[in-house]
Amino acid sequence: MSASTRDWKSKTRRFGELDFDSLNFELSTDRYHCQAYAERERNAVWLQTWQVVGRVDELPKAGDWKEHRLFNQSYIIVRGADGELRGFVNACRHRGNKLCQGKGNSARFTCPYHLWSYGLDGRLVGVARPDLVGPIDKSKLGLLPVPVDCFAGFIFLNPDSNAMPLLDFIGADVAELLAPYRLEEMVPVGMDVKEALNCNWKVVMDAFSEGYHIIGVHPELLSVTGVEAGASRHGFYGDHRMVVRPFEVKNLDECSLEQQVEGIRSLTATFPSVREVLPLFEQSIASYRNGQGELLLPEGVTVRGILQQATRASLTARGMDVSGLTDDQMSDNQAWYFFPNFFATIRAGEMTTILPMPHPSGDAGRCLWHVTAYKWLPEAERAGQRAQLLEVQEPGSYPYFLALQQDYDQMQRQQEGLSNLALKKVRLVREEVNVARFHQVLDGYMANAAGTTDVN
Ligand code: FES
Repeated sequence: MSASTRDWKSKTRRFGELDFDSLNFELSTDRYHCQAYAERERNAVWLQTWQVVGRVDELPKAGDWKEHRLFNQSYIIVRGADGELRGFVNACRHRGNKLCQGKGNSARFTCPYHLWSYGLDGRLVGVARPDLVGPIDKSKLGLLPVPVDCFAGFIFLNPDSNAMPLLDFIGADVAELLAPYRLEEMVPVGMDVKEALNCNWKVVMDAFSEGYHIIGVHPELLSVTGVEAGASRHGFYGDHRMVVRPFEVKNLDECSLEQQVEGIRSLTATFPSVREVLPLFEQSIASYRNGQGELLLPEGVTVRGILQQATRASLTARGMDVSGLTDDQMSDNQAWYFFPNFFATIRAGEMTTILPMPHPSGDAGRCLWHVTAYKWLPEAERAGQRAQLLEVQEPGSYPYFLALQQDYDQMQRQQEGLSNLALKKVRLVREEVNVARFHQVLDGYMANAAGTTDVN
């Protein structure tokens, strides 16, 4: 275990230690519904930041490619013959025709309009009927490159050709803190869903950035998660953030041991992977029962600790190296946020990601969200268990698990309220410090772009 992993807490601060005065707890509502704001945001944020566009294992072979659409912009991500992933603007250099859509595998990209063709490295390799073309310099007419790079098994793309390197954007602290989770070895299992929502993309980011709404939207979770802000730890790393809340039966001191055990069993409703750990957990609990079946834990042994040990043993038995993760990381979900739109809740052996992005139509009151559940699996099992992407056509038809369904309904209801023109501002509370930090970063991007020339 590296020193940095052991002391990950030193790279976070307790809620009570945060500098609240440096943050703005009043947000303008135009950011959620105003088309002019969305237009400025498109240029200031979306066309200038690194953003997740897929997983590395989606494009395993030379010639595998996929299209990524952002508003009306289209990009190609392709794996070259040399194994490198590259990004290009999806437009022919002859007269701008779109080259491809969806995903596929090809040895080259041939434009269907006048049949110019490009290699996987973007070079213009052929033109149809050279006798009609006349003199051109093919070396100057390759596809326009866009920066593409990978981190933690995710493919990132930045529409800005002058983007800083991805790892500078991610930051060394973030890279170090996430490395022991082996995210690059996880695959989508069970759920990989895209759906259009009737809310701004930031409504989604906000909803997953605070725990305050649990009391109103997810009351059933109150038995297994505390909403006391004081228990959370927060890390602000450049544009990115992390929050961790202890994952345990609440009011531990007031619960009997049996109630705590029952609380752990009930976690499976929201965190299905806990189910795989339960046999070892139950075995361990049974070993602490006396002849009358009464549960007696020796000094220093806790139900939470037994869950952590069962998780470590279960993952180790599956072949995952968890030596870089602490006991807390066996049980507690770390919520990670990469600006602008990447949210992941991460625990040893599993991760759920939620990526909301602006709707292709540019409608400020809509977005597309992409929700994926990942599990760590032995390499031999990854391809066989990989979930296929489902694009939901009929709104509300996909059966999200309970907590996600509750958020799905709530976020669209919030957008309706936010869209009232008389409501100029909303007021965050202290527990929503993580929401405030997100908007502080956003406001910085918007302010930096104000007065600069539109990129388009
Ligand atoms: Fe592509 Fe003419 S626009 S070959």
